[in-house]
Amino acid sequence: TDIAALVARLPKAELHLHIEGSLEPELMFDLAQRNGIAIPYASVEEIRAAYEFSNLQDFLDIYYVGMNVLQTEQDFHDLTRAYLQRAHADNVRHVELFFDPQGHTDRGIAFKTVIDGITRALDDAEAEWGMTHRLILCFLRHLSEEAAFETLQQAMPHLNRIDGVGLDSSEMGHPPSKFARVFAKVGALGLKRVAHAGEEGPPEYVYEALDLLKVDRLDHGNRALEDSALVDRLVAEKMTLTVCPLSNLRLCGVERLEDHPMKRMLDLGLRATCNSDDPAYFGGYVNDNYVRTAEAVGLTADDIIELARNSFRGSFLEPDEIERRL
Ligand code: HPA
Ligand code: ZN
Repeated sequence: TDIAALVARLPKAELHLHIEGSLEPELMFDLAQRNGIAIPYASVEEIRAAYEFSNLQDFLDIYYVGMNVLQTEQDFHDLTRAYLQRAHADNVRHVELFFDPQGHTDRGIAFKTVIDGITRALDDAEAEWGMTHRLILCFLRHLSEEAAFETLQQAMPHLNRIDGVGLDSSEMGHPPSKFARVFAKVGALGLKRVAHAGEEGPPEYVYEALDLLKVDRLDHGNRALEDSALVDRLVAEKMTLTVCPLSNLRLCGVERLEDHPMKRMLDLGLRATCNSDDPAYFGGYVNDNYVRTAEAVGLTADDIIELARNSFRGSFLEPDEIERRL
């Protein structure tokens, strides 16, 4: 269709992508065999069949099992390489990847193993295709503040490769306020700050992300729409929202993609972007997210172009570099 052709030709940045969420069932199965790791699935088909979620926690329970197959530097490289190839095929020119070190260090994998594998693939993509990147360490918010401080300590020798810190995993019951002190330290280190907020959590969590964590960007942010004063503030501050429509659909944030608020967000003047979140689990990479959302909610060509431009505006590229790419 026209929409698919437009989306395919637009240069894009992807700003909300959990690298562990790009682990396709085929690679999961191969790595399980390569590493002698038991997984609770007998085939690739069985893995795919398990991907029926009714909320965020349903997904996370399976996501943390899947990542057990990741053991060596080569595994993290191969995972990242596979995602970058998919992104390159979608004409993604800049990526800002999340990774979840606690999902690995808590099962005995060294922080260095994780980051060395990921960055080797990122460096190759830049050399081969000119695809630029930023790397964002996420704290798992269901774990303690103390565990987040320990993880930040483990990251210290690698800060030359880490551009920002985020907050992901189970949102309800784990408000941003729990991590206010560790985010203050992150800011003092000169790192960017982002947080998942308003994916399942209430508008209050979005206020906390802004006021207590001082985020430079908001991940998801859907439930901010319930509070018009909050919407006005996000518009006034030109806050970027990294929206993930197919994720919202698969985690039942919306019942049907036709109900997705992407069009409303753009019409309100919010700086929304379109991203894939965990594409191996949610059934689509970035172009699929653009095309399916555009068709479902009636995005115009101008809306689609605006989403792509917002992806660069909201990126952590240098301002002159952003200007050059718009
Ligand atoms: N939300 C929260 N935590 C996550 C997600 C998500 O969509 N994906 C991976 N960790
Ligand atoms: Zn996410």
